[in-house]
Amino acid sequence: MNRYSKGAIILHWLMAVMIIGNLAGGFLHDFVPTEGGQRSLVMGLHKSFGLTIIALSLVRLGWRLANPPPDFPHYFTSGERLLAKAGHGGFYLVMLALPLTGWVMADRNTRPLSFFGITDVPKFGVDKAVADSAHELHETLGWVMLALLALHLLALVKHQLLDRDNLLVRMGLGKGRRAGV
Ligand code: HEM
Ligand code: HEM
Repeated sequence: MNRYSKGAIILHWLMAVMIIGNLAGGFLHDFVPTEGGQRSLVMGLHKSFGLTIIALSLVRLGWRLANPPPDFPHYFTSGERLLAKAGHGGFYLVMLALPLTGWVMADRNTRPLSFFGITDVPKFGVDKAVADSAHELHETLGWVMLALLALHLLALVKHQLLDRDNLLVRMGLGKGRRAGV
């Protein structure tokens, strides 16, 4: 079975781990105790990984344009192709827009925006109203990302259990079971 390029595979898994971690950190941050600076540690990591995701999304977008993905297996219906393309395109959009709204909303407080404690990253200097709208958008896009992830995983389960075509191979995991697809 055709695979994505090595670069696409590495970026996919590296970013999947970071994005899932950031979704968890973002949605669960209210439950992290503030004592001992635990919440600020979690949110500090959230912001730093989020900024990293912006840089990686740009690299990935460039990589994707330079390295077209492998063709879908021949038995994919036109509906399946359309859904997969829409889902993947949606991921690319949200992968960039979601952390960008996070960066814009950093103006809601006066503390410097630290990148892993190594350096401070400049803020946009927007007014409170804009930063507050970015906050709302950040939350909404967080839900959109979660919904896309759920659809992505549902599609995968459908392919594993019903089509039994082991699409994971295309993303670098394991060996293909069906030759020639
Ligand atoms: C792909 C990367 C990111 C993901 C998946 C993500 C996801 C989320 C989610 C789901 C929430 C919870 C929203 C809510 O319920 O209010 C959240 C909150 C937050 N995010 Fe992000 N985020 C990302 C990047 C960033 C970046 C780059 C920054 C800042 C530089 C940031 C700053 C924050 C802050 C400060 C909150 C807490 C908001 C509050 O107090 O309610 N995020 N994030
Ligand atoms: C938030 C996390 C994730 C994001 C943002 C994401 C995003 C993407 C994107 C954009 C593609 C299309 C390839 C490309 O153009 O780069 C893709 C393909 C794929 N993903 Fe994910 N993914 C995530 C998590 C996962 C997880 C957890 C799994 C498996 C357990 C997975 C399995 C796959 C597979 C098998 C493909 C290949 C689909 C095909 O045959 O074309 N992904 N993913």
